[in-house]
Amino acid sequence: MDHFLYRDGVLHAEEVPLPEIAAAVGTPVYVYSAATLTRHYRVFEEALAGLPHLICYAMKANSNLAVLRLMASLGAGMDVVSEGEYRRAKAAGVPGERIVFSGVGKTRAEMRLALTGGIRQFNVESEPELIALNEVALSLGLRAPIAIRVNPDVDARTHAKIATGRSENKFGVPIARARAAYAEAAALPGIEVVGIDVHIGSQLTELAPYAAAFAKVAELTDLLRAEGHDIRRLDLGGGLGIPYRRSNDAPPLPFDYGEVVRRCVGHLGCEIEIEPGRLIAGNAGILLARVIWRKAGEGRDFLILDAAMNDLVRPAMYDAWHDVIPVEEPMAGAELAPVDIVGPVCETGDTFARGRPMPPLGAGDLVAFRSAGAYGAVMASEYNSRPLVPEVLVSGDHFAVVRARPSFDEMLNRDTIPEWLGLGPGRRERSG
Ligand code: LLP
Repeated sequence: MDHFLYRDGVLHAEEVPLPEIAAAVGTPVYVYSAATLTRHYRVFEEALAGLPHLICYAMKANSNLAVLRLMASLGAGMDVVSEGEYRRAKAAGVPGERIVFSGVGKTRAEMRLALTGGIRQFNVESEPELIALNEVALSLGLRAPIAIRVNPDVDARTHAKIATGRSENKFGVPIARARAAYAEAAALPGIEVVGIDVHIGSQLTELAPYAAAFAKVAELTDLLRAEGHDIRRLDLGGGLGIPYRRSNDAPPLPFDYGEVVRRCVGHLGCEIEIEPGRLIAGNAGILLARVIWRKAGEGRDFLILDAAMNDLVRPAMYDAWHDVIPVEEPMAGAELAPVDIVGPVCETGDTFARGRPMPPLGAGDLVAFRSAGAYGAVMASEYNSRPLVPEVLVSGDHFAVVRARPSFDEMLNRDTIPEWLGLGPGRRERSG
């Protein structure tokens, strides 16, 4: 459920009509609903109720500071994968003991930052990382709390680019090598083993792969405990899918996911950590865009929008489906006709949908891409020198710009022309 609904024939974010945001901020623009973000967080809290747990929001899905602040105020921990994300978590007021550091290629500088700034645990993905972390921790006179991310060789049955739990993927330590890796960790004075970590992929639409992976983790927990390791936390990763296509998709509910967690690992007495990103942010956001032109092609019509692949790359990158709906509610019984929905960027990949049945739309009309709150703004770029897409957060009847669109001067001023090419900064013309 989300809070993007038609009221009096106009699509609203909570109580704010979207045309009001378009008029104030311009398009394209991402619009997030605080009530939906809050609701999704609480759904996970309820799913794990009764189990000791911490929900570590995977901020890679949407790392706007306002979103993070909202999550932090609800009590969320954070899953971070880079120095930048760690700094964002801190800037949003998340204490170090609620931050989990994941990622397959952490640098020593990142380790140092997290160790000195405070960290709940590092999810270690390889033996060389373990050695380096030990050295960095010892150099600071500290011990690094760790879980080893195991790769359970389970098929998550999702898009190949976002499946992570097969042995051919770059992630984690193969589960067959886990006991040796834990033995190595236990012998390192700068390392403190606190748990096991697993994450098998993103946009999972079935529970069976979770059950398979969690069962392997439960078995490993017993083995490692028998060998003397203090396994007190299990980080089960993220990945629960969301309905992108309202008319077809019915991914598992968080409640049922919670039941799988309970059934597979509930008896172990561990604190459970989960790292959901998409399910919290995905359907809490839309991308609002305007039709620039409607153009008749040969045998097809194109709706050319002012949003493009640089603003929302998922369709170009993963052939992802996003529902696109008009902001002005179509008349009941309005005829649908297939159109190609495209952006203005100079490549054919800049196509959001092909032959999509849409009600009549023309130049100037507003449309909303649904399910765009996760992996939308965070993956945006300035390709074609299009300013980075802004973001707005709505709460009830008010909204705030939580990331402004940069001006063209701000964009241009990030580059410098070296002296030896002439036309130094002082002599350059302003853009407009
Ligand atoms: N934990 C780890 C270690 C991860 O790698 C990820 C996602 C998550 C948690 C969160 O997964 P979620 O609950 O959001 O599914 N850009 C792609 C998705 C990449 C996901 C990467 N890792 C997309 O747009 O579909």
